[in-house]
Amino acid sequence: MLLRYPHLILTLILILIIPVQTEEFKYRIENVKYQKPGSIRSKRDTFVRRESGVAQNVTHLLNDVLNNYDQHFRPGFKSGKPTKVYIDLFIRTMGPVADLAYTYSFNCYFRQKWTDDRLHFNNSGIGFRQLSLSMAMLDKIWKPDTYFWNGAGSYVHGITTPNRLVRLETDGTILYSSRITVKAKCQMDMSRYPLDKQACRLIIGSYAYSSDEVQYKWRIMGEDNGVKIDYESIADLPQFSLSGFKVYEAANLTRDKEYSALEVRFYFDRHFGYFLMNFYVPCALVVLLCWVAFFTKREATAERIGIGITNVLTIVLISLDSKSDSPKVDSPTALEVYIWICYLTHLICMVEFTVVHYHTKYNTGDPEIQEVERERLRQIIKQIPKYDFSKMSLIISCFLEILKTDHIPHSNDEMLLNQCQ
Ligand SMILES: *[C@@H]1O[C@H](CO)[C@@H](O)[C@H](O)[C@H]1NC(C)=O
Ligand SMILES: *[C@@H]1O[C@H](CO)[C@@H](O)[C@H](O)[C@H]1NC(C)=O
Ligand SMILES: *[C@@H]1O[C@H](CO)[C@@H](O)[C@H](O)[C@H]1NC(C)=O
Repeated sequence: MLLRYPHLILTLILILIIPVQTEEFKYRIENVKYQKPGSIRSKRDTFVRRESGVAQNVTHLLNDVLNNYDQHFRPGFKSGKPTKVYIDLFIRTMGPVADLAYTYSFNCYFRQKWTDDRLHFNNSGIGFRQLSLSMAMLDKIWKPDTYFWNGAGSYVHGITTPNRLVRLETDGTILYSSRITVKAKCQMDMSRYPLDKQACRLIIGSYAYSSDEVQYKWRIMGEDNGVKIDYESIADLPQFSLSGFKVYEAANLTRDKEYSALEVRFYFDRHFGYFLMNFYVPCALVVLLCWVAFFTKREATAERIGIGITNVLTIVLISLDSKSDSPKVDSPTALEVYIWICYLTHLICMVEFTVVHYHTKYNTGDPEIQEVERERLRQIIKQIPKYDFSKMSLIISCFLEILKTDHIPHSNDEMLLNQCQ
């Protein structure tokens, strides 16, 4: 009977297996879930207790520190010593360099470090050498009013929260880092465009504090002089490549007073490939094409004019195309000069052809002109007196001689030529 109902057997087997399986799973889950139940919780509890104790201590400490703190005065205001602010940049991405707007931008970690004696604390109660502070704390302490002298719209990144951090060390040293995109003006020299190199400056200084109050210095860490660049991520800058940078020591710049300022200069090289393929090679080819006119048949005037006009139009088109995305500058750029030279070469080519054509109207091989020529010869021959055959043959021979040769006649022929005249 069992064999007659195979599905019944299958069902039975399944019913038998499933409870065994679930039993095993349950066992495993229980095994994991309830293994040594007390230990983790108690460990966590002690951690939480210690943590809250530290937090209390830190809160205490910060309250202590901020007690009697006036954020409106810079550190060292009382002693009259200038506050030294150390700056370093870590550039993550460079570009774009906008040569039409004369600006460039880059993305960096902008770090400022200064020491505020009033914020020093005793770390024996908390065990940290450094405290990471919240932004609320940042609002309560003095910060240098650093800005970019040639800035043109920089901003702090605000996703997902403002990208800033503040760390306080036991001696009151504060590290304030923010991730910003700097956009700055750059005075570009376009006379060598598109073979130009641009040097773009960034000047960092205080807005309100003059050089006897706040002084800026590059924060030198290891080999770099304050500016570090992530060369891997800037490798694919679209139109330019960063060929290097130079960091300048602090100098006093004058606005209404003397202000301490730092300067870094970035050097950009323009990529030439685009211009080579789109303007230089086509122009050169068009100039080559106008040589074709020199090798066409002498009487093919219309074709030559045709080639000439087409080439002129092509050069005008290339010239217009080059202007559409190039900076509008007063003095001619190198590219414009090049295109003008192409145009001029072409023009000379056309003028040369015209002049040559005008002066070799005869003997061009043109059937009509040849007919006229022949007629002229016939007229000359007709004028020769008929009776003197010997003289006539002489005249014809010298005539042919003149027609045939333009080299200096042999001395034997000299007499003959004299007779001709
Ligand atoms: C820090 O505080 C502890 C007591 O809490 C004290 O013994 C120690 O001298 C203090 N350290 C400094 C540098 O003031
Ligand atoms: C908090 O500070 C006190 C002394 O000020 C110290 O005895 C206690 O151990 C500290 N708490 C923690 C969790 O470090
Ligand atoms: C800038 O001026 C300050 C005082 O006004 C002076 O101490 C400092 O040496 C000057 N720095 C430079 C680079 O001239």
